[in-house]
Amino acid sequence: MLPILRRWAFHITLITVALFLLVQAVSLLHGNGTARQTPIQRLTHPGLFGKKFRWRDLPQRHPVDNFTAPPSGPLEHIPKIQHDFAEETPTQRAERQSRLAAVKEAFVHSWEGYKKNAWLQDEVAPISGKSHNGFGGWGATLVDSLDTLWIMGLQKDFAVAVAELRKIDFTTCSLNEVNVFETTIRYLGGLLSAYDVSGHKYDILLDKAVELGDMLYGAFDTPNRMPVTRWDWKNSALGGLQEAARFSLLAEVGSLTLEFTRLSQLTGNHKWYDAIARITDLFEDQQNRTKVPGLFATQIDTKNADFTRDVTFSFGGMADSLYEYFPKQHLMLGGRSEQYRTLYNTALASAKEHMFFRPLNPDNQELLVIGSVKRKSAAHLIFTPEGEHLTCFAGGMVALAAKIFRQTHDVETARQLVDGCLWAYDSMPSGIMPEIYRAAPCTVTATDDCAWSNKRWYDAITHDGAEEAQAIISSNKLPPGFVSIEDSRYQLRPEAIESLFVLYRVTGDTTLPDKAWTMFQSISNLTKTKIAYAGLEDVTQRHPKLIDSMESFWTAETLKYFFLIFSEPDVISLDEYVL
Ligand SMILES: *[C@@H]1O[C@H](CO)[C@@H](O)[C@H](O)[C@H]1NC(C)=O
Ligand SMILES: *[C@@H]1O[C@H](CO)[C@@H](O)[C@H](O)[C@H]1NC(C)=O
Ligand SMILES: *[C@@H]1O[C@H](CO)[C@@H](O)[C@H](O)[C@H]1NC(C)=O
Ligand SMILES: *[C@@H]1O[C@H](CO)[C@@H](O)[C@H](O)[C@H]1NC(C)=O
Repeated sequence: MLPILRRWAFHITLITVALFLLVQAVSLLHGNGTARQTPIQRLTHPGLFGKKFRWRDLPQRHPVDNFTAPPSGPLEHIPKIQHDFAEETPTQRAERQSRLAAVKEAFVHSWEGYKKNAWLQDEVAPISGKSHNGFGGWGATLVDSLDTLWIMGLQKDFAVAVAELRKIDFTTCSLNEVNVFETTIRYLGGLLSAYDVSGHKYDILLDKAVELGDMLYGAFDTPNRMPVTRWDWKNSALGGLQEAARFSLLAEVGSLTLEFTRLSQLTGNHKWYDAIARITDLFEDQQNRTKVPGLFATQIDTKNADFTRDVTFSFGGMADSLYEYFPKQHLMLGGRSEQYRTLYNTALASAKEHMFFRPLNPDNQELLVIGSVKRKSAAHLIFTPEGEHLTCFAGGMVALAAKIFRQTHDVETARQLVDGCLWAYDSMPSGIMPEIYRAAPCTVTATDDCAWSNKRWYDAITHDGAEEAQAIISSNKLPPGFVSIEDSRYQLRPEAIESLFVLYRVTGDTTLPDKAWTMFQSISNLTKTKIAYAGLEDVTQRHPKLIDSMESFWTAETLKYFFLIFSEPDVISLDEYVL
């Protein structure tokens, strides 16, 4: 069994689309990419892990001699993404600013707890004050949260944290196995977004990104240039043979795109863009030949570069960010390539057909939730009507793509996806959505109006009659419409507020910040500890027990999106940044 992929977390590179000109300038300064390659030198020194070791000097066993460069040429016009916001009234401003202050206070409390108890460690444990180092021990929370510090106006703390980067060594790792995906999104994304958002004033951010990028590039040194996603870096450094795995998690292979592209854009060195372009070309080539054409299975065969064999499909854990990166990469490339638009549109059409569903709900709201499917045989596709917190990213993705690809009708799709997540939040006694649940699906046919009735709900739970259904409902604390709670935790995840934020910036709908405020209060009231904020064991309780864990995405993403939805709309405008 493979471990379930936790929130692939989507750190995010914040990238200025507006900085394209600057990027061009940087590439000019650095020559045309090939010129920046350091000549390959044989390692003659046994002190491989000593101070002098640099990954870029390690000869590649399967070298690429001609790097694909990011597309250049004129920028395709990308339509405006953000709503034209009207001036706010003084009352609105006062309310917004008090909410903003509350979010900033929550961040500062978390940051102080991390500083005092776990500085330079990956995470602080918010109850015991211990530290966890599950992400390589390079200070995941510190690096991942740099852009949030800057955005919240905590420039002093930002400078202190940046100065600490000197102590972090991205040529070696405290774990034997590097998770290439987690390392890319939390660290590489953290460094690059901090570099961009702080106006390229701190060289060390890019230097460290290059140091890390050089290391991660070692994972691509395989016969077919597919990455080893759970990477034995020591073996690699010692020149051992390596090849990509028969079973790789989809998101771990498909969500390196933004960070690697940005690193190439900022340095003028094309090797990173080339590395991910090879993966994308395979996705494009095989998209219509998978077991559910248009979608990719949650596990793919990178050893044989065959993505068509496996049978389970989802927008949740193990898959999510692959899809999310398609429209964002289109933006990152300035609209200069049609490849990612096609990937996105083909995937979305198939997902709508096979995985999107309407959950029955007492108010008969038009909601959308994204389930999963499994191909049993050519004729038999099994659908599971589940909802997962991780899939809540989709509302934001669809809203963004609706604007950039001028598919305006999908703004409504995005709204229904966001409403599906809000419904799951509002239904729970804690006011917080569980990690995974099952719903009573409406079969969405022309003749089905999806009208709520207790009988339909009970039938979805059991065929043994109303009494048995009611017994299951009360023993499992199931809110109306819910059939089971598969995983009742809340782990401080960002996807729901992320999508609320994007939908707000796209539509200007002023009810959305109010909903975000309710969500923020539920979360902060229940998760706050003396030290920081903690995950919850069971959101079906009014006062859930705490879990002694605060992942880096709490300060890097969740609080950042809460802050941005209460900020003025030109703070990190979606017309200037990809995040
Ligand atoms: C670009 O690369 C080519 C081939 O490697 C080289 O001949 C040329 O001088 C380089 N141009 C610049 C501006 O560095
Ligand atoms: C490198 O690739 C480009 C197209 O990507 C091609 O035009 C060029 O001829 C190639 N150069 C070499 C030396 O193979
Ligand atoms: C896959 O199918 C879609 C239409 O469903 C089409 O637009 C797309 O170009 C196809 N992809 C390839 C690589 O042929
Ligand atoms: C959270 O706590 C605040 C302050 O104690 C209270 O006013 C608010 O109603 C609570 N909100 C929720 C959703 O629990």
